[in-house]
Amino acid sequence: MAAPLIQIHEVRKEYDDGPPALAGLTLEVRAGEALAVLGPSGSGKSTLLNLVAGLDRPSEGTVTVDGLRVDELSESASARYRRSRIGMIFQFFNLLDDLTVADNVLLPAQLAGASRQQARRRAADLLEFLGIDRFADTFPGRLSGGQRQRVAVARALMNRPALLLADEPTGALDTASGQDVGRLLTELNQDGQTILLVTHDTALADSCATRTIELIDGAIVRDVRAGGDVRAGRNVRAGSDIQAGSAVRSGGDVQAGAGR
Ligand SMILES: Nc1ncnc2c1ncn2[C@@H]1O[C@H](COP(=O)(O)OP(=O)(O)OP(=O)(O)O)[C@@H](O)[C@H]1O
Ligand SMILES: [Mg+2]
Repeated sequence: MAAPLIQIHEVRKEYDDGPPALAGLTLEVRAGEALAVLGPSGSGKSTLLNLVAGLDRPSEGTVTVDGLRVDELSESASARYRRSRIGMIFQFFNLLDDLTVADNVLLPAQLAGASRQQARRRAADLLEFLGIDRFADTFPGRLSGGQRQRVAVARALMNRPALLLADEPTGALDTASGQDVGRLLTELNQDGQTILLVTHDTALADSCATRTIELIDGAIVRDVRAGGDVRAGRNVRAGSDIQAGSAVRSGGDVQAGAGR
């Protein structure tokens, strides 16, 4: 069997003060999975995502994505890695407001030095696939949140990433637009896109994840595949009262829009 797309091995992440943000975390994610990472505010979700994106480095342990030791990359190699192998979407879309929708979507291809003609064709295909081709020449400021997130998804997919990373992609959206993003992520995953999704939104996780983990204090306390196969990770704490199936839905502070 092929190596997992993401291999996180005994990763600790410490900041200057306080307890570690990640406390010796081991996780493997296979190509084709849509993994949702749930957990209360401050449990280490964004820290995990940032390490996978190469935006930050672990204090200890290794992070391998698509065969690449992400934790060892130089700054320029790390930027190249993000351009070529991963796509990212965020709570607040992070679009460039003074570029049109089409130019926002084209940007990653331009940065990667792709042929202009091929990039234009791909951007047009993506905008059409996402149902936003009529906004190609519009500026993002004129779009609704849900439409902006679709533009962000198109941009993230532009360079055909092995991995799509999402940090609270519905955090700034109304319920209907959030469900729309959930359907879109499901569709992408069914087409084979591997997804790592950080969210407080348990409905979103339920709708599109093939597997869900829950973090508490930087450790995995639950690891469940859709369909019920509960895998107690080695970080699961003895005596924890967290049970498969219900805890994530009933537990913790389910709130949209918490900072990072
Ligand atoms: N740059 C940083 N400097 C210092 N501490 C940090 C930094 N980034 C994160 N932390 C700390 O690490 C811990 C985990 O933070 P993280 O942002 O990963 O949590 P989270 O699960 O994403 O929370 P939220 O749901 O609120 O977004 C928190 O205690 C946070 O204060
Ligand atoms: Mg976060």
